Formats: sequence, structure tokens, C-alpha cells
Amino acid sequence: MTRKPRARTTTKGERGRIVAGCLTPHPPHLVYADNPKQNEARSEGGWETIRWGYERLRHSLARATRDYDVILVHSPHWRTRVGHHFLGVPHFKSLSVDPIFPNLFRYNFDFDVDVELAEDIARRGAKKGLTTKMMRNPDYRIDYGTIAACHLVNPTWDKPIVGISSCRVYNDYSNEVGQEQMRALGAATREAIEASGKRALLLASNSISHRHFTREPNVPEDMSHEHIYHHGQHLWDMHAIGLARDGKGRQLFDELPDLIDQATSEADAGCLSWLLSALDFPNYPAELHGYGTVIGTGNAVLEWDPNPKTRQVTPRLMT
Ligand SMILES: [Fe+2]
Repeated sequence: MTRKPRARTTTKGERGRIVAGCLTPHPPHLVYADNPKQNEARSEGGWETIRWGYERLRHSLARATRDYDVILVHSPHWRTRVGHHFLGVPHFKSLSVDPIFPNLFRYNFDFDVDVELAEDIARRGAKKGLTTKMMRNPDYRIDYGTIAACHLVNPTWDKPIVGISSCRVYNDYSNEVGQEQMRALGAATREAIEASGKRALLLASNSISHRHFTREPNVPEDMSHEHIYHHGQHLWDMHAIGLARDGKGRQLFDELPDLIDQATSEADAGCLSWLLSALDFPNYPAELHGYGTVIGTGNAVLEWDPNPKTRQVTPRLMT
């Protein structure tokens, strides 16, 4: 792949900002269905409603007023037992194979990391009482949650990323402890971005409801098999999307502990909580770009634009 420009260095006196914060779920099926050159597996498509959603998100971010310097991504599949870890090597290049779906996802990754920004978030997080650590292994296999979210938003990988792990505090302690830590990590992220002078795109890489099939169809992209697994999961998905579209970011954050328990949600990775905190709990509506299920899990592509001058939101006319 051709090498890309690095992130802008800090411009003295210029305050950094979040250009957009997005919920960008990462089922490897979505990359598989797109047939990009980086992925070895080939498909006949599938899961179009979500992939059309990603198409709309990419179109929204491509507007000239929304250019960004760096992508920050919080992934459920880089799991760390102790503390919040950050990619700390300037460049990664290797092959990532999904341990659950090796038949779908064998992705050749090749990208830059904004180590300077990652280190500052880690430093600020530690000052807020979090355990943080830089990951310095140059041979590290990047997880498919990080790769799929970044690929689906920016398939050319022409921007450096900040990769953040999922600390398992929700599982080891409680949802409430997890929420408090993500509140702190989100604040540390926002403060570091502002101090950096950079324009940042934030990606939370989790699905919403997460009760899934246990048997794969012979043709994985056979959409006659694809549907929600349980009505309660659908109701939680619609409720969470409704709160986002109604501009009730704080209520969404506060209800996540119940959602996690009742919808077996992947939000227990903390990605969405981190995002809502970094956005300072948005009281403005998110744009819903797409929704659909993947092996029964509920996946919404949502975008919060903090800038009212560039924000484009479809009015919510249905109840
Ligand atoms: Fe996942």
C-alpha cells in the first residue's frame, strides 16, 4: 500500500476538536461482504442495510468542512484484563484473522498510529485514577474490532489511528464501575484532543443487542437466515437508537447498565460509554445512517456531529 501523510502536528494556540463521534459496529461479515482487496475471503455480498449505512456515513464525513486528522477507535475485541491500553507503535503491518470467523476475515492491515496523542490520553487517564498502559509490541496482531470499524469508515487507511483497548471492568467488577471508568476515559480523550490541536473522528466499535446464532448457514451471506433472535433484543435496539436520535445522550449513558444486562449487549466493552463521555453527553440528535442484524445481533451506524453548522440530521417523524 502507498504510505499516507501523518497527522498534523500540534498547532500552537489552536484548540483541537471532535469532528464527529460515531457508533460503528464491527461484525467481520460487513468487511467480508464488501470484498475489499485487503481481505482474502470472497463473498456474494449480504448485510446491505448496514453497509449502505456505512456508505452514508462515509459520504457525510467526506464533506470538505468535516476533514479530520486522526481516527480514535475503542474496540471490544482488544480485551485487556488490567487497565486501558493504547497502541504505542508508530506503524503496524501484518495479517489479522478473526478467531471465530476465520473463513470470513483474513485481513492484511497496514496503518500508522498517532502515538503522541495516545500517550497523552493515557497520561491524562492515569491522572484521573485509571490504570493505563502503552502497548509497545511491534508484532501485535491488531484485533478485528479495531480493523473492521476503521476499514468501514475509511477503507483507504489514509489517516493515523489511536487504538484503545476494552478493559473488562464491566465483567470483573460491575456495570457501574465500568461506566465510571469510561466516563473518566472519555473526559481524558476529549481533553487530550483539545490540547493536541487536531481534528478527531471517534469510533465506538460495538453493536447494541448481541444475542446471536450459534450455527452458521452453509452460505454465510445467505440473507434468508438473517433476523433478530429475540423480540426483547429488538425493543432495546430501537429504544437506544431513539434516545440517540432524540438527543438524550446522558439518558442513553445512564440506561446502558440495564441495556447491557437485558440485551446481552456488547456495550459491556465500554465503547459507546467512552464515546458518549468524550462527546460530553450530547444533548443534540444523532443521525442514524443504518441498522440491521448480523447473525442476529443489532447493529446501528450512528453519527453525532458536535458542530450545529455542519450537523445534518433526518427529522424523526415516526414514534
Ligand atoms: Fe464483536
